[in-house]
Amino acid sequence: MLNEVDRAVKILQSGGIVGIPTETVYGLAASLAHPEAICRIFQVKGRPTDHPLIVHIADKQDLNRLACPIPPYVMCLMEHFWPGPLTLLLKKTEMVSSIITGGQDTVAIRMPAHPLALEIIQRVGPIVAPSANRFGKISPTTAEHVRQDLGDSVDFVVDGGRCSVGIESTILDATDPEYALIARAGILKASDFNTFLGYECVHSNQKSNMVAPGNLNSHYCPNKPLKLFSDLKMLEQLQKKYANSVHVLSFDNMPHNPTDYAYQLYFQLRLADLSDAAIIAVELPSDLTGWEAVLDRLKKAST
Ligand code: TXA
Ligand code: MG
Repeated sequence: MLNEVDRAVKILQSGGIVGIPTETVYGLAASLAHPEAICRIFQVKGRPTDHPLIVHIADKQDLNRLACPIPPYVMCLMEHFWPGPLTLLLKKTEMVSSIITGGQDTVAIRMPAHPLALEIIQRVGPIVAPSANRFGKISPTTAEHVRQDLGDSVDFVVDGGRCSVGIESTILDATDPEYALIARAGILKASDFNTFLGYECVHSNQKSNMVAPGNLNSHYCPNKPLKLFSDLKMLEQLQKKYANSVHVLSFDNMPHNPTDYAYQLYFQLRLADLSDAAIIAVELPSDLTGWEAVLDRLKKAST
């Protein structure tokens, strides 16, 4: 009898699309060998075609076929953080189709740490895997979420349990041979990279106003309106305005450190969406250091 991984491998090899677990969020996978399957991913997600996809690999050697040049600092980061929640943005080679990169000359690549994802990629070869949700919505952190969001429009979903990180990978723009920038905040943060880079790594929006595709202001949205509050008075005003029909995520019911908070964030927002409340109100942390990734998601979800 075929197990779930066997089945996923077979479907991907024959040009299908499959929901797969990663340590960050569930991805919607298609093989790099099947451009028609990659196109189908854009349709199923309702994603604009200029919004590039992340290539996922299981063998570090594949990096050399997909990207060039590879700056020395990238080798160092890769050795330390792969497999894991770090995506590297590099100049692409001609091996990477412009369907994947939205017509850009760069490619985003990561090696996920989930054992089932690694096994699937080892057997299929490199895949693309955007988060397995409809465009602009919350990423799924369980197989059930993927089925709820995408239903029959995907060929299969592999159940690998709940994602251990809970939010999307950190994207590091490594297209400059001298200088890396954080393009999307994640659980791995600037201070994790500084010792390897030898300088203070900053977020790309602190350096320029260029808006990378995917760095839209509104993203990661629950179905209900999401409002942020920083003190009790603001929450009381929301309760009054929405006739007490408010689902509250505060530090009374959410974790106090950013890693545990990230693990809960999308999961709890989905529960909030299922509640009877008219809106979701989320308390902002008072100390912002270390909370960059969570704040990024909350700000975009509330726009
Ligand atoms: O944790 C993750 O990275 C998850 C799991 C499934 O691996 N994947 C994920 O993929 O978050 P997605 O497609 O939902 O988000 C990919 C982000 C987008 O914001 C996209 O714009 C950016 O990566 N990206 C991909 N390729 C890029 C490129 N060539 N240039 C700039 N941004 C790129
Ligand atoms: Mg996404």
